[in-house]
Amino acid sequence: MANDLWQRLQFWRDNGDGSEQSHAASNGNGKHPANGHGPNRGPGLSSVPTPFQNRNQKTYAHIVGWGMDVPERILTNKDMEAIVETNDEWITARTGIRERRIADEHESTTYLALRAAQKALTVANILPTDIDLIIVATSTPEHTFPSTASLVQDQLGAIRAGAYDLSAACSGFVYGLDMAAAKIRAGDIEHALVIGAETMSRVLNWSDRGTCILFGDGAGAVVLSADQYPGGVVSSTLRSDGSGWDLLGVPTIGSRDSYLQEKMEEADDDENNHRMHRLHMNGREVFRFATRVINDSIKDVLRMANIELSDLSLVIPHQANQRILEAAARGLKVPVEMFYSNVAKYGNTSAASIPIALCEAIDEGRVKPGDNLVFIGFGGGLTWAAMAVQWETDVTKQSPQRIMGLRRQLTYIYAQQRRGVLHQWRKLYGKVSGPTDPESTIKQLRNKIANLNWEDEPEEEKEK
Ligand code: COA
Repeated sequence: MANDLWQRLQFWRDNGDGSEQSHAASNGNGKHPANGHGPNRGPGLSSVPTPFQNRNQKTYAHIVGWGMDVPERILTNKDMEAIVETNDEWITARTGIRERRIADEHESTTYLALRAAQKALTVANILPTDIDLIIVATSTPEHTFPSTASLVQDQLGAIRAGAYDLSAACSGFVYGLDMAAAKIRAGDIEHALVIGAETMSRVLNWSDRGTCILFGDGAGAVVLSADQYPGGVVSSTLRSDGSGWDLLGVPTIGSRDSYLQEKMEEADDDENNHRMHRLHMNGREVFRFATRVINDSIKDVLRMANIELSDLSLVIPHQANQRILEAAARGLKVPVEMFYSNVAKYGNTSAASIPIALCEAIDEGRVKPGDNLVFIGFGGGLTWAAMAVQWETDVTKQSPQRIMGLRRQLTYIYAQQRRGVLHQWRKLYGKVSGPTDPESTIKQLRNKIANLNWEDEPEEEKEK
């Protein structure tokens, strides 16, 4: 019965969209309807058997949806002059940054991540309930736990998805993409949502001009899907050198590191509040590290994927500093335009910068089927990661899928209602099911511990 229902739902999803680009548009062999090649994604189609049905056929992981969201509020270099002793010329010349986005109170990491994710689902034209896995790469989660990914999962109504946050600083998005691609290629899952989302403005020390001018807020998301069409994520390398832990970081309340202790000793109480959960960085060392690792990593993933440097179409790098990108281009002996850059508009949005850059590169027509892309991230940890992607997805704007769009909206409304009802129910249930006062629970626990019989009590103690 349940199986039958599931098959009907699958059939409806695969055939019943009823919109302009319906099943008839597909040639049913994994070729893209529009350009004759590429993953068969788009208007809710899944004519290629899912990996679950076809484990012995090779499965590839393709990016089939993308979306970004940034706060409305813009903070220009000129605005910065009112906050710290700096000026537009210095910031522009040393970093290439002209402005950045700063989140309002209501724009949390989850909020930005959710909006980027919804846009990515629209492009991929799948439902939240199709997603098997959600990974949020972030250094500014809403909580240590629950994960931001779980909050996004709930608010999307992605009720079949597993969810976790990934901490690899500015390399986090590439790490997350690699994890999701591995699950897809292994045939374990069909659709993953990988998000990079940050509210860096909340962890900046706004009196440190060496760091507060660099960072901004935002989120970018991609949908990664299984397909039998070759390409997609073709190689990757993930690296770390934890000996550089003190070069860039955000100490938390649980930190016992010497950086924090040193700072606490030399600062008064008021200042401690600034240091805790505040970003610190050794800019020069981080600059050196970045320029050292970028080119080797790019060459590594190209070699692993059997792609010549001359066949590379575009690098989508982490957006930290225009000078870092220029140095990398010089090192590789490629034109600087090969490194996509929007650092001038958003500054360094940490884990969000690569997916945001990808979205804008697509919008500007710089990505097309057949392109060889490389994503390269680097940052705190120290960590760095690169990935080669053979892009095969049609990027032309498709006409909106009305029915699928409506079903997505209904899922979001349902998710919101469900959350409210469950919350109220838990409150009510707590009231009728006995005391939930934490003090009384702790007292009960203490009594229980006091009355315990310790079986491993030493013999001599027992004799007494
Ligand atoms: N405005 C004006 N002057 C500033 C300034 C600012 N915002 N920040 C620093 N300065 C001053 C310094 O106080 C110093 O003055 P001094 O010579 O009188 O002591 C001078 O500028 C040079 O400082 P320095 O730190 O050596 O500058 P730099 O050329 O290394 O540039 C960074 C600083 C942060 C822009 C650069 O090191 C950098 O981009 N590093 C990489 C950071 C990064 O990308 N991090 C994230 C990686 S994920």
